[in-house]
Amino acid sequence: MSSNTRGSWGSRFGFVLAAAGSAVGLGHIWRFPYVTGENGGAAFVILYILCVFMIGVPILFAELSLGRHSHKNPVGAIKAIAPHGVWKYLGYLGVATGLFILSYYTLIAGWTFGYIFKTLLQNPVTFDDFSTNAPLNALLYVIFLLMTIGVVYGGIRGGIERWSKILMPILPVILIFIIIYSLTLEGAMEGVRFYLRPDFSVITGETIMIALGQAFFANSLGMGAMITYGSYLDKKENIIAAGTTVVAFGIVISFLAGFAIFPAVFAMGKSPAEGAALVFVILPEIFEAMPGGLLIGTLFFLLLAIAALTSAISLLEVPVAFLIDERKMRRKVATWLVGGITLIFGIPSALSFGASDFFSNLPFWTDQSFFGMMDYIFGSIALPLGGMLFSIFVAWRWGLVGANKEIALGNETFLGIQSKMWGIVIKYICPIVIFFVFLFQTGLLTW
Ligand code: PFF
Repeated sequence: MSSNTRGSWGSRFGFVLAAAGSAVGLGHIWRFPYVTGENGGAAFVILYILCVFMIGVPILFAELSLGRHSHKNPVGAIKAIAPHGVWKYLGYLGVATGLFILSYYTLIAGWTFGYIFKTLLQNPVTFDDFSTNAPLNALLYVIFLLMTIGVVYGGIRGGIERWSKILMPILPVILIFIIIYSLTLEGAMEGVRFYLRPDFSVITGETIMIALGQAFFANSLGMGAMITYGSYLDKKENIIAAGTTVVAFGIVISFLAGFAIFPAVFAMGKSPAEGAALVFVILPEIFEAMPGGLLIGTLFFLLLAIAALTSAISLLEVPVAFLIDERKMRRKVATWLVGGITLIFGIPSALSFGASDFFSNLPFWTDQSFFGMMDYIFGSIALPLGGMLFSIFVAWRWGLVGANKEIALGNETFLGIQSKMWGIVIKYICPIVIFFVFLFQTGLLTW
């Protein structure tokens, strides 16, 4: 199949918005601020930026070039270089990871969608009642999944690119509006101090692991989303410039999200909680109490829902592209099929918040829910593992000569010192650093 019949981006701008849309999601606007607040503030921000530029960006270039080289999904991209042997299973890992992350990501995304209306209609339902209400959760899940399916169904230009162009420009506008509001509340500066006070004493092996994990999740790396998005890129596109723009946009949005959240939290005398509680318990209480909270709260959940939608699209697109390329399925059939499978895997996650005892407290894993298990396996382990293996594949199996040539197609200056530096990082630094982080994670090494 030529690149034209399977779809391609209409412009570089369209690609950048779609890739930035994949990156900027719940991981940026919700997870980054509270992880930063808990892990040393500015010290964590510095660590995160280091992880993104030292490990994330080189792997992003590797993924984009691998995708564009073959114009294929992760499995096809690997098979184009290594048709036989075990490497293709790395592609399958990526496809499966996309599907599994989508299955629980959609649940949280559905909540953000529900909270737009909860805030707007000033419905007093508590988070506990909300998250254990199985029919409501199922409804929100299905609505959000249908929106995601609807976009992917439309194809690359007519669906993903078109909607990214419509939705992505809205994000910074809403975010800046909320920040201005939040920063002008009385007592806001305390929140800024909490968010940014650099505390290097809390940086440990664990913190580095969290920063690296965040660098993968937030930039959609390690499962082939960027291979797939890269596969719709034209050969004359500059991968380095486009990729760097995407990452920079993500860092700015992440960083700004903290300025929207913490000043308001502190101004209203709340304590910054972690995880779901911050966004779905503490923030709604704040929106209820503060003047203008109705508007700000509604806009905030709209912001989260839009960011989540453009990310969910990319999670769905990976298995869909796999079925189109490898199984010769029509896009419409593939989209419905993957959407249906996602729905099935989403059910136990949806029951993980108290609706079912079994899924809320897995008997074989202390203090872990099914949702938590999925996020741990696919969100925290599979992405860095995939990233490590993709870097090994590109540097050692494909080879730097081939990869450099692909990247240089849209940017000849790359072949000088840049390609040498990238080569060293992708060949040695990425695999070794990620490997050590895994040793820490599994407890085989301690700090
Ligand atoms: N980057 C998204 C976020 O920050 O919420 C999540 C994500 C999307 C992860 C796509 C991985 C992926 F392939």
